Amino acid sequence: MTRFSTAIPLNELPNKVPQARISDGVPIAIVRIDDEVFAVSDRCTHADVALSEGEVEGCSLECWLHGSAFDLRTGKPSSPPAIEPVAVYATRISGTDQDALVEVDVTSPINTESRLS
Ligand code: FES
Repeated sequence: MTRFSTAIPLNELPNKVPQARISDGVPIAIVRIDDEVFAVSDRCTHADVALSEGEVEGCSLECWLHGSAFDLRTGKPSSPPAIEPVAVYATRISGTDQDALVEVDVTSPINTESRLS
């Protein structure tokens, strides 16, 4: 069962600048890349720091502390020291234009398979 909650107005989400939010009690990093919006856990799997303080490179979010870059689609780190993926959550846009809202469903990560590999 899905349960989307409003995370942030789309017009408050700058391109390629991560934003930290709490959605249903879960810390998430939200990233807009042009017309796509991604949401991942805001905790690096290496040392539990905020990924939202990192930088976007391509379609990855780079941890500011040791540099592991997590793919925003799969959650997988591209390089050590992190070896475990972060949770990736489903997003959707509701409303239109000035009233558009980014909604996130944190009830179940969408990258369960990658976490098992
Ligand atoms: S804390 Fe993120 S890579 Fe080390």
